[in-house]
Amino acid sequence: AYHGDTFMAMKVGDDEDYHFAFKEKKGVIHIPTKLPALEEAFEKYGNNLICFIVEPLLQGAGGMQMYDISFLKRARELCDQYDVILIFDEVATGFGRTGNRFVADLVLPDILVLGKALTGGYIGHAVTVANHKIYNGFYSDDPTHALMHGPTFMGNALACTVALKSIELFEKEDYMSKIKKISEVTKREMQGFSDPRIKEVRIMGGCVCIEVYDSNTLNGFQEFAYQHGVFSRPFLTYMYAMVPYIIKEDELVHVLDVMKAWFRH
Ligand SMILES: Cc1ncc(COP(=O)(O)O)c(C=O)c1O
Repeated sequence: AYHGDTFMAMKVGDDEDYHFAFKEKKGVIHIPTKLPALEEAFEKYGNNLICFIVEPLLQGAGGMQMYDISFLKRARELCDQYDVILIFDEVATGFGRTGNRFVADLVLPDILVLGKALTGGYIGHAVTVANHKIYNGFYSDDPTHALMHGPTFMGNALACTVALKSIELFEKEDYMSKIKKISEVTKREMQGFSDPRIKEVRIMGGCVCIEVYDSNTLNGFQEFAYQHGVFSRPFLTYMYAMVPYIIKEDELVHVLDVMKAWFRH
């Protein structure tokens, strides 16, 4: 799991590569995004859990894993049953990346975190959205009961304006259909592509990942891609692309061709 590089977010992440300097994991349980592991974790720890945080449907830096919605539906049921707060980190998945506008449109979390595409990448900004149950938990005239969290750049007017404009364009220019097209072209271009070094090719919405068995297979790919006009940064055993939604079909085909060409050069 990867949820960013702020302190408590590092605590719920489990990627050694990113957070080897932050080992404080007390009170955190990590599980794979598989139903039996979910059931087992709630059975064992459910009564002591406060919240359950997950990147819904698509884990990005946490391993480019793609998984079924049934996991999230069951997570919602279990969180209700054990009175646990369900948090969706949609920083990477939000605004259509999975092929859904938000995964939160399919399964409703208690807290939703958004960033990245919120401002179309033009200015740093993120939001935390909460339902009434959470909001009322800290909404009070009593300052000791309030959530006193006020970073310097909170509610930055310029960033908020960019975010609002970006949301407007996302809706007005029907970005969901652009993402559908990206997904279709990607599936078409990757159809039948295989190599003995490849473990799996995964595609979801505007994301494609080629997972290899051995990370050495990807040594030199970044430079190779750059020489062919594509900026790509593989990590561990994952070669992946999360292309901008404004990409043209021939550009997308080129990106995918370069990824495939690495296995043939
Ligand atoms: C899933 C996920 N959550 C959160 C973040 C944000 O991280 P930070 O809080 O370090 O900006 C990222 C950044 O890549 C991310 O991929």
